[in-house]
Amino acid sequence: MADASGPGQAAAMLGSVPLFSSLSKPQVRRIAETAKERSYKAGDVIVRHGEKGIGFYLVLAGEAKVERAGQLVATLGPGQFFGEMALLDEQPRSADVRAGSAVRCLVLSAWEFWAAVGDEPEVLRTLLKETVRRIRTDKAALSE
Ligand code: CMP
Repeated sequence: MADASGPGQAAAMLGSVPLFSSLSKPQVRRIAETAKERSYKAGDVIVRHGEKGIGFYLVLAGEAKVERAGQLVATLGPGQFFGEMALLDEQPRSADVRAGSAVRCLVLSAWEFWAAVGDEPEVLRTLLKETVRRIRTDKAALSE
């Protein structure tokens, strides 16, 4: 997926994000209007393992590195998301997420996220499917 290169492009890009593909254009526009755009420099820690966090992050541009105990777990690019685990179980962050390059994200608070998609079964199903995949990957890595 191509990078979004300006704040005005966030809404257009959201429409092509697989997680939100079942939403109508007005719903996507509302999310783009509600969410805050945040920029990070390469090396910045975006979310920190063990911290309490309530934000849901969608990568608009750049590469976000998921790390645990200094080990790279995954690299997330435009259209991919992170921060869903703490949002779902209201527990501390399960990993660090660090900017591997200049990164721009769209950030939704838990409240904004649930208001936008809490009643959208297809979005929740996609979110859960990816979350379970991540937990399985992490578990497999732990038992290696
Ligand atoms: P959360 O626990 O809120 O904060 C750290 C985030 O890293 C986590 O949510 C997921 O979004 C992300 N994460 C954890 N494990 C993986 C994985 N195996 N693949 C991709 N992302 C992951």
